[in-house]
Order: sequence, then structure tokens, then C-alpha cells
Amino acid sequence: MVQNIPKDFILGAASSAWQTEGWVGKKETQDSFLDSWFKNESFVWHEGRGPDVATNFYEKYPEDIAHMKEIGLTHYRTSINWSRFFIDYEKGIVDEEYADHIDRVIDELFNAGIEPMLCLEHYEVPTYLMDKYGGWASKKVVELFVDYAQIAFDRYGDRVKQWFTFNEPIVIQTRVYLDAIRWPHEQNTKKWMQWNHHKVLATAKVVQVFHEGGYEGRIGVVLNPEVTYPRSSSPADKKAAEIYDLFFNRVYLDPLVKGSYPSELVQLLEHHQIMFDHTEEELEIIRQNPVDFLGINLYFPKRLKAPRYEWNKDTPFHPEMYYENFELPGRRMNKSRGWEIYPELMFDMAMRIKDEYHNIPWLITENGMGIEGEERFQDDNGQVQDDYRIDFIRMHLNQLLKAVEAGSSCEGYMLWAFTDCVSPMNAFKNRYGLVRIELDDERTRSLKKSGEWYKQIIQERILK
Ligand code: BG6
Repeated sequence: MVQNIPKDFILGAASSAWQTEGWVGKKETQDSFLDSWFKNESFVWHEGRGPDVATNFYEKYPEDIAHMKEIGLTHYRTSINWSRFFIDYEKGIVDEEYADHIDRVIDELFNAGIEPMLCLEHYEVPTYLMDKYGGWASKKVVELFVDYAQIAFDRYGDRVKQWFTFNEPIVIQTRVYLDAIRWPHEQNTKKWMQWNHHKVLATAKVVQVFHEGGYEGRIGVVLNPEVTYPRSSSPADKKAAEIYDLFFNRVYLDPLVKGSYPSELVQLLEHHQIMFDHTEEELEIIRQNPVDFLGINLYFPKRLKAPRYEWNKDTPFHPEMYYENFELPGRRMNKSRGWEIYPELMFDMAMRIKDEYHNIPWLITENGMGIEGEERFQDDNGQVQDDYRIDFIRMHLNQLLKAVEAGSSCEGYMLWAFTDCVSPMNAFKNRYGLVRIELDDERTRSLKKSGEWYKQIIQERILK
């Protein structure tokens, strides 16, 4: 297999503010949801590690960007930490010290020949807004987010041309309010949908501000739609996959790309009395302001089958009433993360966007392989020999490039993550980076074998 990689095809890497920065310079009042969760329930975080130190990117960013330059990344995606960006969230008083840090990171990236892409929220909703307004349950928070976006565009828009509102906007409320597996453990399915709607609305409003403000560049959102595969061709299994798709994928894809929620979803929400509070004006704003492009995070396939048991009527409604997960016997697994490896999902997602979402411009904003105990693979010089990661990237890129040949508008691939970083709960258990981070006080960095390989494919533009 030898494939040419188109000249303009993005070959980058991603991370987020909270998973790398650490708390150096952070004020006590600037906790995000993640910081508070870590403070309140640190025992669920692997080895008690979390966002407090992370990779200390806040101080070490010049070293990381030097590694990015060495590898030749074309783009780097990270987030602005909303919770650290303000001293006063309501009056919009910016923390100049933190905002300068973002300036320095942007400039350093450009000096290294790397284009930054910025996301306005990668789960970093401020705790203050959670406590005072209930977070994204509140329309006030939508307004404050739109104000924040405008301040960020004004400040960085002279240099940053590719923006995203959210990273995986469905995730926090799914874990917290739908599944109630995370602090503060409140089960509330209607609140889950309200958060979803408000993040859709916030995205549409930010798109409007971006376009009306005449900022250069484009504004999108990073979604994590899963490619759904029914267990069998039976109508019951297919229906299970379709309903899953409505609740977890189309709930964002349809309004943000096509301008409206799917009517089948609305019927289900009404039937189960979890329809979100909204106005006609809000739906109109959503209709008028689709995103310019999409980032898609894609790791594993979602296999589904029809449920075997009747739903217990005393259990609060959960979409799981309509489906069960299906584990394909013999599937290839990343055992560290418990995720199936199925590279074909890249092609399948690309064809779906082409056929159902008018081939809107998009790119893979995350895909990667988190592996536990990578020190096992360090050679005598300490370099991680991560051939499994090279194979993983190669297989996924191969499928993506095939999709491009088949007419997909996919513009690129960004690996998660550039360096090892902190995962929610798993912390440093599974390592994702092209660059290894030691957990010493210095957070010492070293290039893995995959880093050298990525450098080579970026230089040669050939995938072998
Ligand atoms: C994505 C998130 O879902 O997956 C990242 O955007 C996350 O923030 C990544 O780190 C990998 O998942 P995990 O749970 O192993 O960190």
C-alpha cells in the first residue's frame, strides 16, 4: 500500500488547555468543572493525578512547540481555558496574565510554522457558572459564552483563523446528568437535553457573531458522532442503531449542519417528556446559522442491537430503553482503553458526511491510541518504540485517504494527542502522545518513535 497524501492535507495534532496546562498562575476562583471534580473526587482519578500539574504546558509550551516544529506539524489544535480567561465572568473582565499566555502560545506556533486552531470550550465550563446558574442549563450562560467568544475573536482573530465553539459538546452532561457516573452525580435526563440544546444554540449564536463581525476565517464545532453499526440486518437491530444515532449523533449534527433537529428526535423527546425549553426565535437562530466546517473526533465503532428486556418504568428515561451495546466476537481491541479498533469507520464517516451532510468541509480533529505502561516499550536510550501507534495511525489515515479519493471533503487528520496528557479520570494511565511525558517534577519530554515516523510522512507526503 502506497498512498499519496495531498499537498494541502492537514497533518496535525491536538490537545486541550485543561489536559496540559496545569495550575501554575491559576487563581483560586478560576476552577473549571474539571478542576472541581478533581478536587471533590480525586480518588476516582488514576493515581490521584489530574489537571493540577498536567504536563505543565503553561510553563513548558516553548519546549513542546519546538518538538512540533521538529516533527513539522502543519496545525495544532488546543483550547482557551474559559475558566482561566476571566477574572470576572459576568462583567467580562479578562485575566490579562492568562490572555497573554494564549498570545504567546499563538505567536510561538506561528514562529514555528504551525497554524493554531482554537476551541472555546473543551469541557472547561467555569465552576462559578455551574454554581450560580447551573451551567449550561441556563440561558444566561449561553449569553455569557457568546460574549466570551466575541472577546476571544477580537483579541486573537488577527492571527487565529480557524475556530471551534466546543469540543464534544455532548460529553459532560451525558456522563454527569444522563449516566450520573461523575461528580456531582445528579441524574436528570431533561437537564441533559437542555444542556444539549443550549450548546447547539450557543454555537449558532457564536457563528452569527463571527459572521456579522466580519472576522476572517471560519467557525465550526468539534463533534464526536459515532459510526453506528447494527448487529444484524434485522429491522429490530437497525431500529436500535437509528435511535442511538438520533439521541447521540444527529442531536448535534442535524441542527448545526442542516439547521434543525430531526423530527423523529423531537417526537421521542416529547413522548418521554424531556423536550428542552426553547423558543421559536431560538430555533430560527439555529436555522439561520449553520457552522462553516466540522471537526470530527473518531476513535471506535458503536455496535448496537435491539434491547432484550423491557424498561423498568421506575427507572428515569434513558435512551438505552431502545438499544443495547453489542460486542462483536473477535473484534480487534485496544485493551488499555477498552475501545474496539476498526479503521474502516473513517471511510464510513466520510461517506456519511458526503451523502447526508452535503459534504460540508471537515477534518478529523482527534483519533489516537492510549496505551497503558508504555515504559515497557522504552529502548536503551529511553525512546518509546510505539510501533502499535504507528500501525494504528497508518490504518486510519489509509481509510481517510481512500475517502478523499472517493470524493470526501475531509481536509486533514489530527492525532490525539501531541504529548501524553491528562485524561478525565484515567489521568496519565493511557499514553497518547508522539512525545512522552515523564511524571517527574520537570515533566521531562522525549520524542517517541511515532514522532519520528509522523515527521517522515509529513515530509514525504506518502503513506506506506
Ligand atoms: C476525546 C476528548 O473524547 O477523547 C479528549 O476530546 C480525550 O479530551 C480523548 O482525552 C481520549 O479519551 P480518554 O478518555 O482516553 O482521555
